[in-house]
Amino acid sequence: MPSARIGVFDSGLGGLTVVRELLHQAPGADILYVADQAHVPYGPRPLEHIRAFAEAISRYLQTQGCATVVMACNISSATALETVRCALPDIQCHGVIDPAVRSARQGPPGPVGVLATAGTIASRAYSRALGRTMPAVPVTEVACPDFVPIVEGGRTGTAEALDACSRYLAPLRGRAAQVILGCTHYPLLLPDLHAAASAMGWMMRVVDPAAEAAREAILCAGVNGTTGGRLVLQTTGDGAHFSAQAQAVLGYAVAPAVMELHWHEDGCLA
Ligand code: DGL
Repeated sequence: MPSARIGVFDSGLGGLTVVRELLHQAPGADILYVADQAHVPYGPRPLEHIRAFAEAISRYLQTQGCATVVMACNISSATALETVRCALPDIQCHGVIDPAVRSARQGPPGPVGVLATAGTIASRAYSRALGRTMPAVPVTEVACPDFVPIVEGGRTGTAEALDACSRYLAPLRGRAAQVILGCTHYPLLLPDLHAAASAMGWMMRVVDPAAEAAREAILCAGVNGTTGGRLVLQTTGDGAHFSAQAQAVLGYAVAPAVMELHWHEDGCLA
């Protein structure tokens, strides 16, 4: 019987928004999460580096028994999904962009806004995917380089976060019937985003791909209520720091201790 263990990765704590959904939809899921905090933020990095990180982390997850891998990272999904699927044909690899677009299709008609990292915007992955499935719909994309450092630095709920939200939402005001959160870190800024939008008199409708991405992975991995799995967290950064961050996202009762992983000179993880 194939392994039901689900591997999930991101540059940092953003992918925990997908883990949170996996645990909500399938409390018995067996999950291994890797945060590549040695390289966060991914957003401004050359795309070939992102592809190399994504392939090495997926390979590592495969060696740990994961037959299903979720790139809970939009920039990896935008640039590395096909590369990893070709390189590792024995695992099922999922991204978050198609789930985001499927969720947007179920939303109100009209223009779509996308907030994402500079790399994801530059890849044009969202405008292409939205153009395929919602061809007549205008799309406005906004790169938000300050968001990931604010989230990783624990500065959500501050004046700095609110100011960044106001700046990045301004070009979408009046131009978006719904706004896709095109980076898995951004749901952690939701209170700031809604506060900034309501200060503009905007009842903003947000699309978070996490629920749809989790649903797809659970179906693929064949997780059921009797799996009886556990959550394992690993980081290429500081374990104690990531443990505190994970507890804030997942809750103290859920987040376990964190193991540190290391990048080797040959580009592998161990
Ligand atoms: N959370 C990731 C994403 O969804 C990466 C953010 C970053 O490290 O720049 O794109």
